[in-house]
Parts: sequence; C-alpha cells; structure tokens
Amino acid sequence: MSNLVLVLNGPNLNLLGLREPEIYGSTTLDEIAGMLEDRARELGLEIDMRQTNHEGMLVDWLHEAQAGGARAVLLNAGAYTHTSIALLDAIKAIATPVVEVHLSDPRTREPFRHVSYVGMAAALTVEGHGADSYRIALEAVAKGEI
Ligand code: DQA
Repeated sequence: MSNLVLVLNGPNLNLLGLREPEIYGSTTLDEIAGMLEDRARELGLEIDMRQTNHEGMLVDWLHEAQAGGARAVLLNAGAYTHTSIALLDAIKAIATPVVEVHLSDPRTREPFRHVSYVGMAAALTVEGHGADSYRIALEAVAKGEI
C-alpha cells in the first residue's frame, strides 16, 4: 500500500492565519503543512498538501487520489463541506478513504454549517481541534483506524 496521503484544502483556507483568527487560529496553511510533513515522516507516511478555491479542482484531486493509489485523503473542503453534492458523489465514487477535517467545530456554529455533505461519505471526521485536527486525522490514518 502506498504511503502517500493527499491533504486537500478548499476555499479561503489559503488565508489561514489572517482569516477570522478568533475562529481558525493564527497558524498559516504553510505552517500546518510543515508540521504535518514532520509528523508524516515520523509515522512513515508522505503528504501532498494542496489548496484550491475551486470546487471542481477538489473533485479532480479526489479522483487523482484513487488513480494514484494514495493511502488516504484528508479533506478540509471549507464551505463546500456544507453545499457540495459533487464532493459527496466524488468521495463515494472512489475507494480511497477520506477523512473530513475542520479546524473549527461546524456543528457548534451557524445552523447552515450543521449539514456536512462531506461527512455523509467520509470514513471519519476530525473537527474542533484547530490546526491539530490535521495531525489527529493523519495519526488516525497511520494507526489504520480508517
Ligand atoms: C472550516 C469550517 C467551514 O464551515 C468553513 O466554511 C471553513 C473552514 C474549518 O476548517 O473549520 O472554511 O472547514
């Protein structure tokens, strides 16, 4: 089995660190990538961290995860989490396990964030731990929990 874990980030996550720090913290996406790379190395995994503001790009990358034989995908789809049937279908279309990741806990926020299309198909959801949500999700992959 491949050691590659794709870490896919959706809209507005390129602004982490600047964007609503009282909700999302002050850690940037690059800092999260660095932290995850270190942890992945310790766990014998490799990560490929990406960000896009475009829904269809996330769909393409999910397909690519399967085609490239990735072990798993960590997916923070941002607001597309709550709107995208295309992402739900893409997760269902691939055999690669997907872990839903959020820095905040959407279920304790506005009602429109309580629905998660990603969560309807994800193997696991890790949310509410700030930047640590990514590390916890990666460790779940390493432990074979998904
Ligand atoms: C988020 C939660 C979403 O509701 C929001 O739209 C985001 C970030 C999170 O990581 O907490 O963009 O996915």
